[in-house]
Amino acid sequence: MAERPIVIYGDPVLRETAKPVEEFNQDVKDLVSNLVDTLKKAKGLGLAASQIGAAKPVFVIDLSAVDINQSLKVFINPEIVEASDQEVEMEEGCLSFPDMYLKITRPERVRVRAMDLDGKEFEIEADGLAARAIQHEFDHTQGSLFIDRISPMTRTLIRGRLRKLAAAS
Ligand code: NI
Repeated sequence: MAERPIVIYGDPVLRETAKPVEEFNQDVKDLVSNLVDTLKKAKGLGLAASQIGAAKPVFVIDLSAVDINQSLKVFINPEIVEASDQEVEMEEGCLSFPDMYLKITRPERVRVRAMDLDGKEFEIEADGLAARAIQHEFDHTQGSLFIDRISPMTRTLIRGRLRKLAAAS
């Protein structure tokens, strides 16, 4: 196992914008393997590289705990190429914000283009929880966080909790 500590809100690495991965070398394989181990240990649905301190456009999604037909997927240099006009509100959590769940509105369906560990491009369409998880993790690769998508009123309500998280990180 090569899990790494999960970076908590307040750490500037979560706000870094990542340059594309150009070489699909052992470093990238190690990064993905660390992501997978860390995600499994945390029993989360998804984890982005910035959350273990590496500002790279890489994330993993594992919905196998909630959907038996799903397996772990790796996304490198992801792009959202299409998003449905229809949006849905869903409660989201984030491993970098322990015990914080927020209702976030996002497109119901997305089409994503990304590369796998061998640098091979693929495209998938996702809806429901998978679309949700992909969009959340994609945001991380852009230095964006789910708290950027809440209303000013909700932001005011959680201001104290955010401050505490940032102070402890
Ligand atoms: Ni997150």
